[in-house]
Amino acid sequence: MILQSFFVYEFYIEVDWFRVYSNAILNETIHAAEVLYAAAFTQLETERQIMKPYNEMTTEELTQEQARLKAEYRKVQALDMHLDMSRGKPCQDQLDLSMGMMDVLDSTSDLTCEDGTDCRNYGQLAGIKEARELLGDMMENNPKDIIIYGNSALNVMFDTISRAWTHGIMGNTPWCRLPEVKFLCPVPGYDRHFSITQYFGIDMIPVPMTPTGPDMDIVEKLVSEDEAIKGIWCVPKYSNPQGISYNDETVRRFARLKPAAPDFRIFWDNAYGMHHLYDDHQDYLIEILAECKRAGNPDLVYKFSSTSKITFPGSGIAALATSPNNMDDFMNHLKHQTIGHDKVNQLRHVRFFGDIHGMVEHMRKHAEIIRPKFEIVENTLERDLAGLNVGTWTKPLGGYFIMFDSLPGCAKDIVSRAKKAGVVLTPAGATWPYGKDPNDSNIRIAPTYPTCQDLQNAMDIFTLCVRISAIKKLLAERN
Ligand SMILES: Cc1ncc(COP(=O)(O)O)c(C=O)c1O
Repeated sequence: MILQSFFVYEFYIEVDWFRVYSNAILNETIHAAEVLYAAAFTQLETERQIMKPYNEMTTEELTQEQARLKAEYRKVQALDMHLDMSRGKPCQDQLDLSMGMMDVLDSTSDLTCEDGTDCRNYGQLAGIKEARELLGDMMENNPKDIIIYGNSALNVMFDTISRAWTHGIMGNTPWCRLPEVKFLCPVPGYDRHFSITQYFGIDMIPVPMTPTGPDMDIVEKLVSEDEAIKGIWCVPKYSNPQGISYNDETVRRFARLKPAAPDFRIFWDNAYGMHHLYDDHQDYLIEILAECKRAGNPDLVYKFSSTSKITFPGSGIAALATSPNNMDDFMNHLKHQTIGHDKVNQLRHVRFFGDIHGMVEHMRKHAEIIRPKFEIVENTLERDLAGLNVGTWTKPLGGYFIMFDSLPGCAKDIVSRAKKAGVVLTPAGATWPYGKDPNDSNIRIAPTYPTCQDLQNAMDIFTLCVRISAIKKLLAERN
């Protein structure tokens, strides 16, 4: 029996090496390597079927498996790869989809809006009518409830907190004069949200995420009891990093919150509202502004979005949707900040898409490019880790991320091992306030930027590191 399993292990060392080798020559002879790769993939699937969960292996079996994986790791290291899965950036093919936006305006174009506004000149502080209509459709809000900003939604979020800090929200005490200001941070969450609140010295309170959104029992309790809590960060659709969407019940409970602080606001960052991966299988999010109005809480929410991951990140247009009272508050500050944002870019976006149908069609093209990448990640996790009890992962229908949870205490080790083998991942801990994941288990996987082949190589290395790290932990626990 032992002899037989030894033979099997030896055999799979060969298979794994065969796979790495096939990857290496892929640049030379893509078709041949794909055939080899497919063969190795089938063999590896067979390997998975015979593999027991690691926690059920004997120490001897685990030690053997450790030796096999470490040998594989050394071979991978020798390939000197440089792969980056650290940030959720669109890849070049995705950026190319919007190049037509560079052609819709030229020096002969009439830059006049339907209402006569000359986009080359000052004016239209809330944005041009056509852009408010387009982003209104995108955000499912009335154009009159929309302000079009500059090139970044995060920038609008930062500014919103900055203004609350120095001037207060709708006549309330500026946050800088309060003894303490707190924010609820659903975890795991988006590191750049946490970075904004950390910058202002706002105390961040983690709230656990569930598969249907933040734990609303905790949110309701904290918000209603503590008037120092002034806000909550939310990514309600295809969340960063889980890729999950809040269900109807969660949105309605948000709308019905009874905060102790009159200036409490929900920071509803709907960055991935249109970012479906599939045509026939999509998440649906109910519209929060309408729910807040219905619940008699019209001013409770600031809703942010942008075209960053629709056209060009950093050169898109950002928008805020909110109630008329909040709009007045924003405009009263905004008029001191600028005479108007970039209307030429707003017009460029409108002329490129035509209307919301053009944008939906455009998003289908994004999905065609990134769907295979999500599937590479999921298939590789399934192929290499299913049944081993070494981690869990999400299977999103949209957005930009997949979330992986390792055994407790392994995330930093996995990220560092991957780095030493040439794969850069989002730092472990980044999905928690102050970069501190108490379980050291959460890792955000960002599949969009690398090519499919680079992503496959990176994922092969990732799952290898997960297995090595899990065995190290299990063996340490037994000693
Ligand atoms: C949840 C979320 N919000 C906002 C952004 C950035 O938006 P923008 O480029 O408009 O600032 C990102 C980018 O990754 C994101 O994931």
